[in-house]
Amino acid sequence: MTDPVSTLDFWEACYQAGKTGWDRGETHPALLAWQASGQIEPCRIVVPGCGNGYEVISLIESGFDVTAIDFAQAPLEALKPKLAKKNLKCELLHADVFSYHPSVKFEAVYEQTCLCAIDPTKRETYEKQIFSWLNPGGKLFALFMQAPEIETGPPFTCSIDEMKTLFPAERWQWPTDAANKYDHPNAAIFELSHMLTRR
Ligand SMILES: C[S@@+](CC[C@H](N)C(=O)[O-])C[C@H]1O[C@@H](n2cnc3c(N)ncnc32)[C@H](O)[C@@H]1O
Repeated sequence: MTDPVSTLDFWEACYQAGKTGWDRGETHPALLAWQASGQIEPCRIVVPGCGNGYEVISLIESGFDVTAIDFAQAPLEALKPKLAKKNLKCELLHADVFSYHPSVKFEAVYEQTCLCAIDPTKRETYEKQIFSWLNPGGKLFALFMQAPEIETGPPFTCSIDEMKTLFPAERWQWPTDAANKYDHPNAAIFELSHMLTRR
């Protein structure tokens, strides 16, 4: 049986109704911090579940070769004129992340709250997808949603213990430094940023 919260209809309805509480309205500060520290540098990068795509714009403007994916049409249609106005180019894919198989692999994945939008029963498949998109040594820039008070998702909380099981050390090198915490302006949720390296 298809779970209702992982369906395209659910996400389209959120966008149509303006129920987009996750949307920061601007580039995530974690991306700006990664850029300022030089941890993320221009490369071929994919942004799954890009939504309204503030980070897509920032990445293109910073010289990245960006592929952005979302299965909801509404945010992509909103993003297109913003890109055109700035004369920015990227590969904008109206696609399901579970059926995306790039012909050329990526050097980085920017995962900002797509994982927490996916039913937890599908997480292992999502991890396999991300792993398959990256070259060995490729980076996963992840914002893991922490929504422990919310019993049903989305967002489905992504505790670091669960993430360490989902992204196991045999496949992913975890950083030794602590995560940075990013409060969410619209809700009692926050994200933890981690940069993982695909083995
Ligand atoms: C919580 S929103 C985050 C959007 C954006 N990354 C942000 O932080 O503003 C999750 C996004 O993932 C998209 N999404 C969820 N499941 C997806 C799937 N299977 N394939 C492609 N996109 C998906 C939704 O349409 C939605 O735009």
